[in-house]
Amino acid sequence: MTDFSSRLIVWQKLHGRHDLPWQNTTDPYAIWVSEIMLQQTQVTAVIGYYSKFMQRFPTISALANATQDEVLQHWSGLGYYSRARNLHNAAQTIMDDHGGVFPQDFDTIQTLSGIGRSTAAAIASFAFNQVQTILDGNVKRVLARHFAVEGWPGTPKTEKELWSLAEGLLPKTDMVAYTQGLMDLGATLCSRSKPQCLQCPLVKSCQAYQQQRVSQLPTPKPRKTIPEKHTTMLIMLQGDHVMLEKRPPSGIWGGLWSFPEQESTDDYSAVAQQRFGMTVQPQQALPQLSHAFTHFKLHITPQPLEVIKRHSEVRETGQIWLSIEDAIGAAIPTPVRKILQSMLNLNT
Ligand code: ADE
Repeated sequence: MTDFSSRLIVWQKLHGRHDLPWQNTTDPYAIWVSEIMLQQTQVTAVIGYYSKFMQRFPTISALANATQDEVLQHWSGLGYYSRARNLHNAAQTIMDDHGGVFPQDFDTIQTLSGIGRSTAAAIASFAFNQVQTILDGNVKRVLARHFAVEGWPGTPKTEKELWSLAEGLLPKTDMVAYTQGLMDLGATLCSRSKPQCLQCPLVKSCQAYQQQRVSQLPTPKPRKTIPEKHTTMLIMLQGDHVMLEKRPPSGIWGGLWSFPEQESTDDYSAVAQQRFGMTVQPQQALPQLSHAFTHFKLHITPQPLEVIKRHSEVRETGQIWLSIEDAIGAAIPTPVRKILQSMLNLNT
């Protein structure tokens, strides 16, 4: 056992987190769902979603047998929806190819959709007590600081160096406390912008601390300016009902219900007639919203169009009309929920 791991384990047992809803279980399904939710989302945001998700889909077979729409509905608002589609897909793989039992073999775990090396290691150590190392963004920061590793951790060379350091630190026992300790330290004391080094169990051996370079490490990502895009969302409105369209299965918001989109124009009546065969009365546009994705920023103009006449024969598949309240409860992206909520508030 290295000094690093023994100090981390002692610290985790005393000061780490012990009562999160996905701890104190060895059910690989419960652990898997939590690790996927936690991949790009903070603990505080995950907690509420997690318990509702587990209530509705308590087992692998319950998840596998659900429709994608229902799975997405329970993910609606969490973002990065490919996580939900992959989770659903992997549950079906486990039913079809693994007899409904979550596989224990480390390489087999990684063949499931949405489970990479670090997530597989988290599941294998928490559920099966295997000696495998995790290396998520937080852990990369801990190691880059502790060993003063140069280079942005996203480059293959730096990432490889971090993996091999991480492997060299693994303890032989206490894998649950060790793995959780890495996560807890990265999420709490060894935070990106306000590290609390004086409370850190590893400060004595931390190279970045000794060199007074904690704020410079890990080396930040070379910044490219992210592109900005503009879109107009067409809010077809009839009474208190709005029309939603199912988005294509992959890509941004894949499989979610959203408003039809359009480049901005000065003739929405013509657009509505051409695209939907509807006669509309354009209303005043609602305030613009912006939504940040990883690779670009989207500026949305919500354009309400009051439907005067609807020709039912041109109704396409993949369109539904829902009351604003029902739409808020559907599998929709966050900006669409914000728009619907603002419309509810306008009417009250
Ligand atoms: N982030 C990723 N996995 C986690 C876990 N099991 N507990 C807390 N934060 C996490």
